[in-house]
Amino acid sequence: MKVLLIGSGGREHALCRKLAASDLVETVYVAPGNGGTALEPAAVNVDLGKWAIRNELDSQVDPAVDFARAHGIELAVIGPEAPLVDGLADRLRAAGIASFGPGAAGARLEGSKQFSKDFMARNAIPTADYRVFTVDTQAEAYAYLDEIGAPVVIKADGLAAGKGVTVAATVEAARAALAECFDGRFGSAGDTVVIEECLVGPECSMIAFVDGPTVLCLAPSQDHKRVGEGDTGPNTGGMGVYSPVPLVTEQQLASMQEIMQQVAAALVAEGIEYRGVLYGGFMLTSAGPKVLEFNVRFGDPETQVILPRLESDLAQLLLATATGQLAGVSLENRDAVAVSVVLASAGYPGDYEKGKVITGIEAAEAIDGVEVYHAGTALVTEGVGHEQLVTAGGRVLNVTAMAADFLDAIQAAYAAVDRIHFDGAFCRRDIAQRAVS
Ligand code: AMP
Ligand code: GLY
Repeated sequence: MKVLLIGSGGREHALCRKLAASDLVETVYVAPGNGGTALEPAAVNVDLGKWAIRNELDSQVDPAVDFARAHGIELAVIGPEAPLVDGLADRLRAAGIASFGPGAAGARLEGSKQFSKDFMARNAIPTADYRVFTVDTQAEAYAYLDEIGAPVVIKADGLAAGKGVTVAATVEAARAALAECFDGRFGSAGDTVVIEECLVGPECSMIAFVDGPTVLCLAPSQDHKRVGEGDTGPNTGGMGVYSPVPLVTEQQLASMQEIMQQVAAALVAEGIEYRGVLYGGFMLTSAGPKVLEFNVRFGDPETQVILPRLESDLAQLLLATATGQLAGVSLENRDAVAVSVVLASAGYPGDYEKGKVITGIEAAEAIDGVEVYHAGTALVTEGVGHEQLVTAGGRVLNVTAMAADFLDAIQAAYAAVDRIHFDGAFCRRDIAQRAVS
């Protein structure tokens, strides 16, 4: 098979490597890819323009569909949320190309917090209580804040690159977050705002393949969202992750799986055809797991610990999901745990410099059980025929280690981290500590 993979992060490098390892796969075309996918023997980076999103002015121009047709693509895999929300999966399917990822209707579960909350409310999916306000009902929003007090959570309705959520400890902070949304910090994504009850408990992610009513859950994982050790400092896209999650009880696991089934059934009942990943972000509250959010794609960096553990053929699983044949398929995980540490550029999640030379990845991967996935890297040509790997983003590398237990995996991951160098590199040193303590 020739596969088209859309995206450029660590998630896509992990998907690319696992797909390329399948006997079913001949070539993975990655659009636009990164330095890591450029180095994969069975992968080719291609430039289809920004996220391959169609030119709004000319609906005839659809680089991803054109490319898929011209190159005989048999499976398209869409990594990030923006092209899914934009309906890329619908357009590829309309052109007869099997596509992994929901259409625009299903992608609203991530694309609109209001849609997602209303969907959960009308289908009795456990989630935090909430109210929705718009720019036109601002006054009521502020009055509602005064009424319910803090802590409280403020969420911009639309996609805001992971920055649209504020967990406010005081009413003052909540008012400031609300003002930011209504003042246009997130563009039209903040014209509608969800004000939500603050839930407490550990968080856990459940990523599942969903094909209509059929749900196949992968192992649970836990992300570290704050930039600083001990969960301090601002939120990031994720600084590290581990899987499975020992603190999750059998009962909580069963409950999360049941909720995922309930969501798939509700999608079917509402006439939304869903073929792709559904990612449930859960809070394990004293009243049981409740949904914080849905993503309609693989998590990043969650994928970088879930895929190395997956023993089953990823290409087969994605193709079965994309073609409506997931029923009856099962999956196997390796009997090992995985830890992934993010190596980031100095300054992230604020401003950072790019173009720093990266060394030591080969030495890191020489450690047993270690795989290094590239996120923000680029392969640049220096002089005649000499290629150099440089930093090109805030999150640069995901250093993943698999081992029999968490102590060994943590030790291997940090030993690998210590073999890698670029100017300004930093990481959290406490990734997966919660799994051992
Ligand atoms: P989201 O983008 O909805 O996942 O929110 C990002 C993060 O905000 C989550 O991972 C949680 O840490 C936090 N969060 C979101 N909703 C709530 C809530 N209702 N109560 C407490 N924390 C929340
Ligand atoms: N790591 C969180 C996400 O992928 O949304």
